Amino acid sequence: MVEFRRSLPAYKARDALLNSISQNQVVVVSGETGCGKTTQLPQYILESEIEAARGAACSIICTQPRRISAMSVAERVAAERGENLGESVGYKVRLEGMKGRDTRLLFFTTSILLRRLLVDRNLQGITHVIVDEIHERGMNEDFLLIVLKELLPRRPELRLILMSATLNAELFSSYFGGAPMIDIPVYEQSILAVCELDWPKDRLLIQVLDDSDDESIQWLIKEEVSKWSQKGVNIIYRHRLVRTGYKAGNLKSAMNCDYVKAYEFVAIFDADFQPNSDFLTQTIPHFKDNPELGLVQARWAFVNKDENLLTRLQNINLCFHFEVEQQVNGVFLNFFGFNGTAGVWRIKALEDSGGWQRGQR
Ligand SMILES: Nc1ncnc2c1ncn2[C@@H]1O[C@H](COP(=O)(O)OP(=O)(O)O)[C@@H](O)[C@H]1O
Ligand SMILES: [Mg+2]
Repeated sequence: MVEFRRSLPAYKARDALLNSISQNQVVVVSGETGCGKTTQLPQYILESEIEAARGAACSIICTQPRRISAMSVAERVAAERGENLGESVGYKVRLEGMKGRDTRLLFFTTSILLRRLLVDRNLQGITHVIVDEIHERGMNEDFLLIVLKELLPRRPELRLILMSATLNAELFSSYFGGAPMIDIPVYEQSILAVCELDWPKDRLLIQVLDDSDDESIQWLIKEEVSKWSQKGVNIIYRHRLVRTGYKAGNLKSAMNCDYVKAYEFVAIFDADFQPNSDFLTQTIPHFKDNPELGLVQARWAFVNKDENLLTRLQNINLCFHFEVEQQVNGVFLNFFGFNGTAGVWRIKALEDSGGWQRGQR
């Protein structure tokens, strides 16, 4: 279990997260689903408080939008710690709860925390409040943020951490006066997934297009690419050259490379999309005997998303097919704003319609 916890993307960001939390009253954390926000970050805080001999004084509340997630996450975290619920980890939802004398980390529903605030305006004794899934906004969630914002000046030592899978972190950061944002990178998992695609290695070129601004992250991604390259994978690292529009500039420059001309299809995965190994064997056959087809697109299938987080990552439902011919430019500029998407394009169809070629070389 320790090994598993260390393998999650959040672990690489552990020190940065803890430092930021110790130095700022509010921190906004984002990172793709499955990277370890919900199960790991509360534990990092708990562990670092214990290491700093403040274990007995610390009291962490992490809110979940739904009762089932509060209960199942508490159960998961206790299991990761080799404990029963009600030892260091517990939960409280309407009409039910599990908490012991030594419980330091409690998973609440949003409404339970609001109720608590009604009777305990200063959240006396609470050291950390983590509001998870802040992108799933409803009345309760918005109201909670308003109440917490108002509380912060009265409790200067209280720490507030906002977590979200999506990238609208700026909105929340600016609501809290420009609170620092930390994005947990998931490049390792994504590169691994693409390198393990089931397809002849000599017929597959992988270009990793990096548009991160942070040099230490660029370096880590380059390292990861060279690791796979040494294993014989045909893989290239490219940092963005142009930044005109989200990903479009980077993509165009990558597609203009001469070596790309030798290829028939281009598969594009958003950075947070981790394809199953059969992704190409599922998508490419759609092009066979179908010269009119320019693009096969895959998208997420949210299956039992509350019951099983893994299914959110692993289920790809191949759906829409649509022709791109006359639309390529527009598509290139507008299409890749989606979160968590992937598609396979017929390079010839893009070329026939003008695509990225014109004026680019
Ligand atoms: N109940 C569970 N059973 C098995 N594995 C789980 C469970 N919950 C989480 N995990 C594993 O832990 C990882 C991190 O999950 P989580 O902390 O919920 O990520 P995030 O909050 O960033 O979406 C998941 O990718 C999954 O592999
Ligand atoms: Mg989560």
